[in-house]
Amino acid sequence: MSNIRTNYEKWYESDEFYWGTDPADFCDELIALCPPSKEKKVLDIGCGEGKDAVYMAQKGYSVSAFDLTENGIKKTLRLAKEKGVEINEYVDDINTFETEEKFDIVYSTGTIQYLFEKNKKEFFEKIERITKKGGFVFFNVFVDKPFLELPPDWDIEEKMWNPGELFTYLPNWKIHRIDEVIFEDNSCGVPHYHCMDTIICERII
Ligand SMILES: C[S@@+](CC[C@H](N)C(=O)[O-])C[C@H]1O[C@@H](n2cnc3c(N)ncnc32)[C@H](O)[C@@H]1O
Repeated sequence: MSNIRTNYEKWYESDEFYWGTDPADFCDELIALCPPSKEKKVLDIGCGEGKDAVYMAQKGYSVSAFDLTENGIKKTLRLAKEKGVEINEYVDDINTFETEEKFDIVYSTGTIQYLFEKNKKEFFEKIERITKKGGFVFFNVFVDKPFLELPPDWDIEEKMWNPGELFTYLPNWKIHRIDEVIFEDNSCGVPHYHCMDTIICERII
């Protein structure tokens, strides 16, 4: 029986960066809200090949980043070396990760759809514990729309969330961004559409 839990382990094997090396625009949104310094800690959950984690380190934060894939973490290390920064990168699982640290920014793009249903509540309780007061979180997640087909590279263990579901967690935080958009994507070379819910919020109390 195969114990492969994500096809990304294979998709990240090649020397090329599957997601490229340009950071997501979301990083600059967070930088504007929480200006970088070495004392500020960032956690990137499901960092893939590290493009966003490395960018945040280049901007001056102390960055930790994990992904389920060994190949993703190897490439994160490679990219960090190429860009002349150090980050704390390691293999871990979004469903079971633990940390004693507290962060100024907890960031996760394109990954929380890998949370098992039974772990969602506990995951957000953990996020609440590990975010400093005055800290920020960024999450986005793919949501199910009956008029959109499942993307051609939909992965093992990925589960669409219900529209708006993401916005029901962290209800007592200050919301800076909350939206749902449909966009075209060409990952895997086949044009397709996603619907994505996004939230940026701040832990005030
Ligand atoms: C769509 S990619 C996004 C990667 C990265 N955040 C980016 O934007 O480039 C989803 C990532 O989730 C990772 N992943 C899948 N299951 C995971 C799990 N259980 N724990 C942590 N990461 C996981 C995959 O390896 C992959 O890197």
